[in-house]
Amino acid sequence: MAEVVLDVQNLTKIYGKIKRVDNVSFQVYAGEVFGFLGPNGAGKTTTIRMISGLANMSEGEIFIAGHSIKKNFKKAVSCLGGIIENPEMYKYMTGYDNMKYYASLYDGITEEDIRDVVQLVKMENRIHEKVKKYSLGMRQRVGIAQSLLHHPRILILDEPTNGLDPAGIHEMRDFLKMLAHERGYSVFISSHILTEMQLLCDRVGIIANGKLLAVKSMDEWTEALEGSVNLKMNVSDAVKAKEIITEEFKISVYANKSLINFTIASELVPEISKTLARNDIAVLSMYTGEKSLEDTFLELTSTAGTAIK
Ligand SMILES: Nc1ncnc2c1ncn2[C@@H]1O[C@H](COP(=O)(O)OP(=O)(O)O)[C@@H](O)[C@H]1O
Ligand SMILES: [Mg+2]
Repeated sequence: MAEVVLDVQNLTKIYGKIKRVDNVSFQVYAGEVFGFLGPNGAGKTTTIRMISGLANMSEGEIFIAGHSIKKNFKKAVSCLGGIIENPEMYKYMTGYDNMKYYASLYDGITEEDIRDVVQLVKMENRIHEKVKKYSLGMRQRVGIAQSLLHHPRILILDEPTNGLDPAGIHEMRDFLKMLAHERGYSVFISSHILTEMQLLCDRVGIIANGKLLAVKSMDEWTEALEGSVNLKMNVSDAVKAKEIITEEFKISVYANKSLINFTIASELVPEISKTLARNDIAVLSMYTGEKSLEDTFLELTSTAGTAIK
């Protein structure tokens, strides 16, 4: 088992009287890309601000590389690098001079360290140009290089692909995977975009309304979907059909005009038809589709609060 680099235990943040982050626990291992996926307002940034020491926890504990943020703040945050807001850089200086300036704020960072991280983010050909000439993707990469200078164990990125074009997103994806899988960093990345997480992450946790609903590896997410189908049916009485199916099969059904839409184990499809027939509901047309991870994400986040294993 790989080493736990980030250990979040029962983390809670209360603003006013509302729990915006509600008893969240998870671990991130060395060498993995961990995705923190949730709709806007779910509590991702609030969680990240607590992990980075930018906001106090209301309850809970956080350990980074074994160091408690509460008891050993300096040591804990020294093991962490990240870009929480947009990377801060002086536009009229070169990327390299920005790096040198940043390095001067810490003890013991050598020119060689700078060269290494610049190479790691593949900016060696452009690093002597002024930052104002960089694309957003290039600025992000220099920002990441800066945050790697003090040799952290975990890199934390809050929605880093916001505003990037598809090529920039692709580049960032390859580069973050390389950092985790080849260099052994933990990479923790938040996003509200499912497909992005699917292509990038080894494991994904879904957060909604401050609650962490499930954490699974991508393989487990895929496996969890096998054997289910998504059914869309045009029926003579959608309201009644919704009621009956919800009652008999204990699943959630979306009804809209004459259409009902739900997900169910494949082997139960014939039972659905029989049940509807028995209740004098005519099926006018039916469409079967594979359940997608997107369906699951929407289901999970729209029923937020229900614990899902
Ligand atoms: N400083 C704050 N004071 C009060 N409420 C806040 C503060 N920061 C965030 N919130 C609230 O907490 C919730 C989660 O916000 P946030 O963590 O930014 O979500 P996300 O990053 O997932 O979009 C939102 O309802 C937001 O309005
Ligand atoms: Mg946010």
